[in-house]
Amino acid sequence: MNLPTKSIDPSLVPTLTIRSSGAQIPVIGFGSFGSDHVSASDMAEAVKMAVLTGYRHIDCAAVYGNEREIGRAIRELIDAGVVKREELWITSKIWNDHHGQGDVLLSCAQTLKDLQMDYLDLMLIHWPFPNYHPPQCSVDSRSPNAKPYIHNDFMKTYRQLEALEQMGLVRHIGVSNVTIPKLKLILQDCRIKPDVHELELHPNFQQTELRRFGEELGIVHIGYCPLGSPHRPERDREADDSVDMEDPVVQSIALAHGIHPSAVCLKWAVQNGCIPIPTSTNPSHILSNLEAVIQDPLSPQEIEQMSCVDKNCRLIKGHVFLWPSAHDWHDLWDERGVISC
Ligand SMILES: NC(=O)c1ccc[n+]([C@@H]2O[C@H](COP(=O)([O-])OP(=O)(O)OC[C@H]3O[C@@H](n4cnc5c(N)ncnc54)[C@H](OP(=O)(O)O)[C@@H]3O)[C@@H](O)[C@H]2O)c1
Repeated sequence: MNLPTKSIDPSLVPTLTIRSSGAQIPVIGFGSFGSDHVSASDMAEAVKMAVLTGYRHIDCAAVYGNEREIGRAIRELIDAGVVKREELWITSKIWNDHHGQGDVLLSCAQTLKDLQMDYLDLMLIHWPFPNYHPPQCSVDSRSPNAKPYIHNDFMKTYRQLEALEQMGLVRHIGVSNVTIPKLKLILQDCRIKPDVHELELHPNFQQTELRRFGEELGIVHIGYCPLGSPHRPERDREADDSVDMEDPVVQSIALAHGIHPSAVCLKWAVQNGCIPIPTSTNPSHILSNLEAVIQDPLSPQEIEQMSCVDKNCRLIKGHVFLWPSAHDWHDLWDERGVISC
């Protein structure tokens, strides 16, 4: 087993309280999406390194195609006495091709089998659309069967998620990639409120209105692409995308603290009450990302400065989920305050 050069006592990592249960969720998680450049086995090694370094929160998903390898890696750590299952916060997600009746239970069963666990701490519906697309397909391709958000259909999927919680297979449930209009409808019709919303969040894309809306309802926000996903595939890049870690304000704060801009992004997220889930296969990044959230907070003035770097720059636009009559990716995000159809 490769050991980290230094590890952090996990009890030093702050937690947030989940309102419905009082459960504690670590304020930083480890992302496990290898995209198309990190193999399943390399990501499993990175997860192992992360747990050995002191992370206790891992963000998984069926669609990442690596839950079996990650499950094996975590099992090895548990068997070696490095960590106990109950010390970990494990999230997974239902992919878009498993929204149908009975599919959510099947997806959860497969994830539990792959991860070698008998419960998950959190299960999310990955996207609010049941729209399948082949892995690594072109962003211009549109599935002829793709649909816009249909609330009654979504609630049929959500009801199955509620049943997973009632069966004790998952301890908490939540949503990902939803908007205020969609959340309002979900909250109106759910029996068990979503505890968590996982959404894209980084200094150049702060989603303040959406977060404030959720916070008032006691929803915890997990932020993905917290560093601006610098190695995302070419197909997910557009000419006017900004680069968070090159932002002059982020860089000047980093310089003042003698830290890397990545640490500024992570501190900013945590000090805004959110939970960043950075990914890395580099042991020194894995360590410095964890250290960032326990050392040397940004000052109130710096937090104020950071609020001015929002460029509303969404990186994961979601083109591949568009339905045939949709205009463009903006339709996925209900930007006019009503659900696009
Ligand atoms: N719910 C959703 O729909 C959704 C969507 C996308 C992502 N996610 C989740 O969010 C996680 C994070 O997203 P992401 O990986 O796209 O973006 P990210 O965490 O912002 O960026 C990860 C990249 O940053 C680099 N990096 C990490 N730490 C660094 C450091 N200290 N200094 C410099 N570079 C550093 C990594 O390269 P090295 O390996 O070289 O460190 C890696 O390529 C995913 O793994 C996944 O779990 C969820």
